[in-house]
Amino acid sequence: MSRFKETNIKDFSPNPFEIKNKWMLISASKPDGTVNTMTASWGSFGIMWNKEVIFVVIRPQRFTREFIESAASLSLTFFDESYKKALACLGKASGRDEDKIAKAGLSVAMYRGTPYFEEAERVIFAKKLFVQRIEETAFLDAKITDRWYPEKDFHYLYIAEITKILEK
Ligand SMILES: Cc1cc2nc3c(=O)[nH]c(=O)nc-3n(C[C@H](O)[C@H](O)[C@H](O)COP(=O)(O)O)c2cc1C
Repeated sequence: MSRFKETNIKDFSPNPFEIKNKWMLISASKPDGTVNTMTASWGSFGIMWNKEVIFVVIRPQRFTREFIESAASLSLTFFDESYKKALACLGKASGRDEDKIAKAGLSVAMYRGTPYFEEAERVIFAKKLFVQRIEETAFLDAKITDRWYPEKDFHYLYIAEITKILEK
């Protein structure tokens, strides 16, 4: 969209710790063009295999995971504070049950088959490189499994290469 400007990865220095309170949407589409999104507050940016990447974790039951699985790329979108309520709704309702994107008042845009939102202040497109389920036996501190996985719904970790950044 015209209101977005592309940011060169060399000029991109986000604070990954902001994700915890700022939140973001993780979005992807299926080959039939349908789109889904969900709110996330865990994840990071970094370097892996000498590439600039994002790390996100998705629990198996999320409808969004089906979309991420069927797509080569996904987007992360970040919003100003005025969208916090919309993000809270998108992090509670499931796209399985309702058109939560329309309900949240967000407008979907597409870039090369990957969805993002007109209302975002920052968009990161990323190409999937790696996915692996987090394994219970890999934890070295049982307090984490007790606290975060009482249902044993261990996340899938996705690592994806940043391919494009748009900012307003
Ligand atoms: C603030 C916040 C952060 C969240 N972070 C994550 C996350 O990092 N990973 C995850 O799997 N679910 C996370 N969720 C839960 C999903 O956003 C939520 O289950 C959502 O309804 C899934 O929608 P879907 O079924 O349409 O994919 C978070 C929810 C909220 C409100």
